[in-house]
Amino acid sequence: MNTTTRKKAQSDLSDLRNKKIAFFSTRPYEHILFSDLLEDLNDANHEPVNATFFEHPLNASTAASCKGYSDVVVFVNDDINKATIDVLRCCGVKHVALRCAGFNNVDVDAAAKAGITVSRVPAYSPETVAEHTLALILTLNRKTHKAYNRVREGNFNLGGLMGFTLHGKTVGVIGTGKIGKAVIRILMGFGCQVLCFDPCPNDDVTVMGAKYVPLNKLLEESVIVTLHCPLNQQSHHIINTESIDKMPHGVMLINTSRGGLVDDNAIIKGLKSKKIGYLGLDVYERESELFFNDHSQEIIQDDIFQRLTTFPNVLITGHQGFFTQEALNEIAVTTLNNIMTGDNTL
Ligand code: NAI
Repeated sequence: MNTTTRKKAQSDLSDLRNKKIAFFSTRPYEHILFSDLLEDLNDANHEPVNATFFEHPLNASTAASCKGYSDVVVFVNDDINKATIDVLRCCGVKHVALRCAGFNNVDVDAAAKAGITVSRVPAYSPETVAEHTLALILTLNRKTHKAYNRVREGNFNLGGLMGFTLHGKTVGVIGTGKIGKAVIRILMGFGCQVLCFDPCPNDDVTVMGAKYVPLNKLLEESVIVTLHCPLNQQSHHIINTESIDKMPHGVMLINTSRGGLVDDNAIIKGLKSKKIGYLGLDVYERESELFFNDHSQEIIQDDIFQRLTTFPNVLITGHQGFFTQEALNEIAVTTLNNIMTGDNTL
């Protein structure tokens, strides 16, 4: 934590001491980060901040463990639906702090009715997710993941590793908020033509040299389509059989946003027909049953996910777009600040 953040956090410390905070879906790296941060805030004259770290997710069946806590801190796959909120209200919880940007896993209306405020981390190094998006594009294209294994086995044959030059290619960016803009900035550096779609266009994008077009035109003309919009009623399955039909043969599709933006059955059909030539996913519609945990000794029951992993031109990462030291620090500081100040409520 830098000195300014530390001073600001310490000045608000008295507010945090009145809280009792439960963290859910906590992984060891988050436990260490939040504990260090809270420890930083303490001094010899005061009681430590009251925080408990649970590894299990928050949902309707686990919500009873919130009894006596004023604030709960949750992540992308915790399920804060109406049933969970009803239990939280009975437990006396006043505030749900999302330690992420997306809030599609929270029933915001039910929370408001229950008098529970919900905050999130609206922005944390959008470049972090943008860079992961580029990592997927470049890896799928130049097949460095396959080359790595081949070279280790003494196989220097280049067959099957041919890529395409990104310079000059047309890339479609759906959603031009913080992450979409960061992606566009990088793509412009590669010399790509960028077409964008967003119901709320913004001038920064056109200043960078990208062009807003209707969604259909973007789908028809882009050799790479990358998704950076939130998951909501309008965007659910925005990539479906009909939209895939409009894309050029062999298109590269990238989703680092939310799994529900794509219809996985349509994607599998598109991969089988070779309409989709490359698929890069960091998110998956039913990821809550898989991601962030080690299932390597189990039989994975999700046949759609398993089918996706069988294609040679599919690269899936387990929701790690946000996972850099810088982003995690920003998330932790903003989350605690949201609890202390009531900032960034929905
Ligand atoms: P943002 O709120 O800054 O931008 C979202 C943009 O999408 C806005 O400009 C909005 O007008 C636009 N939009 C809304 N509905 C749309 C639609 N139907 N079609 C096209 N555009 C639409 O959000 P930000 O920070 O850029 O994040 C985007 C998404 O990235 C988040 O909602 C979240 O789901 C995802 N995300 C993924 C992470 C990861 O680790 N893989 C980490 C952080 C965010």
